[in-house]
Amino acid sequence: MQNILEQLEARRDSARLGGGQRRIDIQHSKGKLTARERIEVLLDEGSFEEFDMFVAHRCVDFGMEKQKYPGDGVVTGWGTINGRMVYIYSQDFTVLGGSLSETHAGKICKIMDMAIKNGAPVIGLNDSGGARIQEGVAALGGYADVFQRNVLASGVVPQISVIMGPCAGGAVYSPAITDFIFMVKDSSYMFVTGPDVVKTVTNEVVTAEELGGARTHTTKSSVADGAFENDMEALFEVRRLFDFLPLNNREKPPVRPYFDSHSRIENSLDTLIPDNANAPYDMHELVRKLADEGDFFEIQKEFAKNILTGFIRLEGSTVGVVANQPMVLAGCLDIDSSRKAARFVRFCDAFEIPILTLVDVPGFLPGTTQEFGGVIKHGAKLLFAYGEATVPKVTVITRKAYGGAYDVMASKHLRGDFNYAWPTAEIAVMGAKGATEIIYRSDLGDADKIAAHTKDYEERFANPFVAAERGFIDEVIMPRNTRVRVARAFASLRNKQLSNPWKKHDNIPL
Ligand code: HXC
Repeated sequence: MQNILEQLEARRDSARLGGGQRRIDIQHSKGKLTARERIEVLLDEGSFEEFDMFVAHRCVDFGMEKQKYPGDGVVTGWGTINGRMVYIYSQDFTVLGGSLSETHAGKICKIMDMAIKNGAPVIGLNDSGGARIQEGVAALGGYADVFQRNVLASGVVPQISVIMGPCAGGAVYSPAITDFIFMVKDSSYMFVTGPDVVKTVTNEVVTAEELGGARTHTTKSSVADGAFENDMEALFEVRRLFDFLPLNNREKPPVRPYFDSHSRIENSLDTLIPDNANAPYDMHELVRKLADEGDFFEIQKEFAKNILTGFIRLEGSTVGVVANQPMVLAGCLDIDSSRKAARFVRFCDAFEIPILTLVDVPGFLPGTTQEFGGVIKHGAKLLFAYGEATVPKVTVITRKAYGGAYDVMASKHLRGDFNYAWPTAEIAVMGAKGATEIIYRSDLGDADKIAAHTKDYEERFANPFVAAERGFIDEVIMPRNTRVRVARAFASLRNKQLSNPWKKHDNIPL
């Protein structure tokens, strides 16, 4: 008996060693943790339960029958993050470069099936050379099996991908379907075709880092939602994000103890808006002053900075924030900001996370680049996302809400539940100067007349009261009271029930 138990321990030790000490040392020398070390950092201590530790591939081509590693290059199982359940897979680069075989894929599919059945999120730690070349189409089929599960799990359980090494070829499409992608700076990259193929096909010379590194995907392509300095920071930040999210689409997000006063008055907000209506101010300040303990987990911080998206808590409950940022492009909506915010709104709606919208938007960005790029279709994404969202929606207009952008930004007309405005709000079809130049075109040569018309227009429309008279604004509130008013609004909406007409699925303008 003792011998059998020892054999089990010996087998386990061998599996835990992955591709062997030499390859573990190489992994460490690149500043990377191993697959198992990453799981230890990510999950609560001692909570990890492993599956399929002894699974081995079945390939007999290219001498593969002599290269067997228990676990086959991916560690899978479940555990907890701050006591809440999560399924996890972590690819082991020390085993055949973390490449994905049919059996490796089977292990990932198994935990995904369990996650969907049991209603717990999936976190994938990706570090892989892609499809196991020796297996050919069997590996490709394995990828497709994973993709199919990513699709089925979408909107059912949150899915988070962390890219911690190479992720190339079709392998990128599994993370791409998940809700959030985070990358590690300087040690991870994602691309469909690598630098060599790019050189052959387009004659462009580009490094892997330039083509698909963390900086590229967080600032240019927006494929990734955030980038972190190293493995440890990435894993800690994923723990932080996880705490904001519900386990599945049938559960409310967790309510955490909070140490901030629910009646906190922020006098400084009364002077946040500059006297000059065209002067910028930092919308982060408002978000932080509303949030419990000033804690804001920002999503896509480095992309389309004219809009902010991310999570805060109000009285302990998760709230998704979408906010125009007057510091960048005057906070206008454009292709990138519309896409960024639309995806975020849809995530929140899918997972019952209430949405707070802070509005200071001068309209959509004009220009041929925008029109040729399809700003109509991309802007419609955000409009569609807000219009279909049934979660509690609270909106605060701090300053400008002009034109179509007024409608889009969670207006009353798109089923906003509470629509507040600060006294500094200007709700109009457009800015006063542009408006008078159109209405009084015949007076364009007379500067005095135009100035008088502009002043008149400003007096009539550069305020929140015309909208308030119509009930489009529920109440004009003091800036200093915004946290209290918004928190009370969300509290009153906890039992909100609203559903859309039956449909197979909608047809959002993709
Ligand atoms: C089998 C692989 C492998 C793969 C790496 N290895 N990738 N084995 N299949 N796809 C093995 C190597 O042979 C090596 O084994 C070990 O992993 C480590 O690889 P190195 O090359 O030594 O590491 P490094 O220098 O860090 O380079 C990593 C790499 C490179 C950039 C990922 O290995 C590479 O370019 N691999 C091939 C990538 C690729 O073309 N994959 C297919 C993509 S197409 P030893 O025994 O020497 O340690 C794809 C299609 C998916 O994935 C389609 C889905 C629809």
